[in-house]
Amino acid sequence: MSDDGGAAIEDYYLEERLFPPPEGFVDDAVVADRSIIERAQHDFEGFWADQARALDWFDDWHTVLEWDLPFARWFVGGTLNVSHNCLDRHVAAGLGERVAIHWEGEPGDTRTITYAELLADVERFANVLKGLGVRRGDRVAIYMPMIPELPVAMLACTRIGAPHSVVFGGFSPDALRDRIDDAQAKVLVTADGGWRRGAVVALKENADTAVAEAASIEHVVVARRTGDAGGTTPMTDGRDHWWDELMSKAPESCPPEHMDAEDLLYLLYTSGTTAKPKGIMHSTGGYLTQVAFTHRAVFDLHPERDVYWCAADIGWVTGHSYIVYGPLANGATSVMYEGTPDFPDKDRWWDIIERYGVTILYCAPTAIRTFMKWGTEFPERHDMSSLRVLGSVGEPINPEAWVWYWTHIGGGHCPVVDTWWQTETGAIMISPLPGITTCKPGSATFPLPGIAAEVVDDSGKSIDRGGGYLTLTRPWPAMLRGLYGDPERYKETYWSRFDGRYFAGDGAKIDDDGYFWLLGRVDDVMNISGHRISTAEVESSLVNHPSVAEAAVVGAKDDTTGQAIIAFVTLKAGQNETAERGEELRGHVARHIGSIARPRTVIFTDELPKTRSGKIMRRLLRDVAEGRDLGDTTTLADPRVVDEIRRLSTAQPTED
Ligand code: WTA
Repeated sequence: MSDDGGAAIEDYYLEERLFPPPEGFVDDAVVADRSIIERAQHDFEGFWADQARALDWFDDWHTVLEWDLPFARWFVGGTLNVSHNCLDRHVAAGLGERVAIHWEGEPGDTRTITYAELLADVERFANVLKGLGVRRGDRVAIYMPMIPELPVAMLACTRIGAPHSVVFGGFSPDALRDRIDDAQAKVLVTADGGWRRGAVVALKENADTAVAEAASIEHVVVARRTGDAGGTTPMTDGRDHWWDELMSKAPESCPPEHMDAEDLLYLLYTSGTTAKPKGIMHSTGGYLTQVAFTHRAVFDLHPERDVYWCAADIGWVTGHSYIVYGPLANGATSVMYEGTPDFPDKDRWWDIIERYGVTILYCAPTAIRTFMKWGTEFPERHDMSSLRVLGSVGEPINPEAWVWYWTHIGGGHCPVVDTWWQTETGAIMISPLPGITTCKPGSATFPLPGIAAEVVDDSGKSIDRGGGYLTLTRPWPAMLRGLYGDPERYKETYWSRFDGRYFAGDGAKIDDDGYFWLLGRVDDVMNISGHRISTAEVESSLVNHPSVAEAAVVGAKDDTTGQAIIAFVTLKAGQNETAERGEELRGHVARHIGSIARPRTVIFTDELPKTRSGKIMRRLLRDVAEGRDLGDTTTLADPRVVDEIRRLSTAQPTED
C-alpha cells in the first residue's frame, strides 16, 4: 500500500458478521439464478450481449467487443437511441400512464410525470434545441437545479444525438466556464435559480458570468424555477430564451436519431490528481446496457411495483446513471427530490419514503451517518415498511453505519447493497446481489457478473488475499471511452501504472473469504461526502489568492463526511495570519470551485514539510491533520518544520 492509503481496514471491521439475504427474498429476486453468474465468468462477451438484447436496437451489432487496449468498442455496428429506449418503447408497450417521476421540490411543491408526458416534453425540447441550431454531435452544457426540466434536457440531447455536459448546480461560474470551454458547447440550458435550504441559488447570474467568457455559447435557455424570489432575471436579447416560451412554439414530434453504439452520449467532468478536471466520455450502447442491467440486478428492480429513490444530484455520475438512464431504461417509477436531507426539517426524507411508498432507497454513507447523529426518533415516527432494498454509494461505508441502515431504516428485512463504481466506470462494478449474496457490513462484497476486478501489489502482481490496489482486468460496456480531447492523458491516468490493467485509484483489501473491502483513494483525490475533489484543484485555487505564497491540501478523516479538506497555507511576506484571513481563504475556494470544496480548516504555517527534492509530503500533513504519530521524518529537508506545524494545528480550533 502506498503512503496515501485510506483508513486502515481495521477501522472498518467490527467483527466478522454475516448477513444472508432476508428470507423470502430469493425466489422473487431478479438475479435468483446463479447460472447467469457462471455464464458471465465463462463468456463475458456473451453475457453482456444478452444484456444488450434487453434494449431496443435499430440495427444489430456485428461484433460484441473490439479491444485494442486501452480502447474498447462495444456492440460494433449496432445503432440505437437512448431516449427511444428510455421513453418511446415503454409508451409503445402500453405503459404511457405509468409514473416515471414523482418530483418533489424543496418548498414542498410536487409534480407527477408519466412516461407519456415525459416523452412529449422530451420531443418538444429536442425540437427547441434543433431550432437553436444544435445538430447531431454538437455539445450542450446543462447547469440546473434538481427539477424535471433537467432530465428532459438530457434526454432531448440524446434524442438528437447531441452529447450533453451536465455541470453540477453547486459549481462556481469559473468551474462552469472551464467545462463549457473544454467541451466547446454551443448551447447552455439553465434555470433562473434553484432552492437550497430555503434560499435561492442565483444560477442564471452564475451562468451569465461564465458565458461572458465562454465564446462557444450561442444560446442560453432558462427554465423558470424560483421566479421573483430570486429577483428579476436579466435576459440578453437574441442569446437568452425562456424555456416555456420556446416550448410553446416548438413542434410536437421529433423522431429519434439513429445513433451508433459508440457515439458519444455525454461528457462528465471529474477531479483527478491535477488541477484540470477531466472530461470523461461515455458512449451510447455499452453505457445504456450496463446501467440498465445493474439497475435491475443490484436493486432487484421490479418496475411494475417498485418505487425507487436515488437521493443523489443529477450533476454527479450517480444521478446520470441511477436517476436518469438506468431507471428510465427499465421503465421504473422514481422519486426525484430537489432538496437536502436537513431541510426544511429532519423528517423530510422519511416523510417522502412514507408518502410515495418508496421500496428502494439509494444514498451516500455521509447521509446515513448524519441520520445516525440525529437519532432514530425521526425515522421511527414514519411508516417505512414499504422499503425492500437499501443501497449505498460514493465512499466506504463503515460497518456501524451499514448496520444502523439495515436495522433502523430497513427494519432488518432489506438487503443493503454497497455499490462501488466511479464516474469513469459509468455503472456499478462491485456490489452484492439481493437474494444471492451473503453480505458483510462494510464490504462491497464481489465484482458483479461480467466484471473482472483484481487487487494487485506494488509490483502489479495479483493477490487473492490482503491489501493493495484495485484494478480492472477486462473491458466493460459502460467504461469511459477516453478523456475529451486528450487520449494521452487517458492512457497515462488509467492504464500506465500497471501493465494491461485499468487502475481505479482506490486501495482495496480482499479478506479471508474473498470479500472486497474498499479502502479509499490512494492518489491525491479527496472524497468529501462522496464527491471527488482533487488536492491540486484546491491548492491552485488557494495560490491564486493574492496573499498566498504556497498551499498544501489534504483530506482528513471526518466522522460524517468521510473526509474533510484541511489546507496548510504559507502567506506572502507582510501578510497577517488572522482568523479573518482564514475565513477569507475558505470563502475564496468556495467561490472559485464551489462550496463543496470549501476547506474545513485553514492552518497557517511559515513553511511546508518538504523532501530534499522539494516535494511536499502530504502524508505527514495528513498525519498531523488526523493527529497520528508521524513516524519517520528523516527524509524531510527540515524535520523541525513538522513539529511547528503540529503545534500550530493543535493551537488552532477547527472552524465551522
Ligand atoms: C469512491 C461515484 C468505497 C471511490 C459513484 C471511487 C467508493 C470514487 C464507493 C468515485 C463504495 C465510490 N465504497 N468507495 N461503495 N463508491 N467510491 O467518480 O474512491 O464520484 O474511486 O463516482 O468514489 O467517485 P465518483
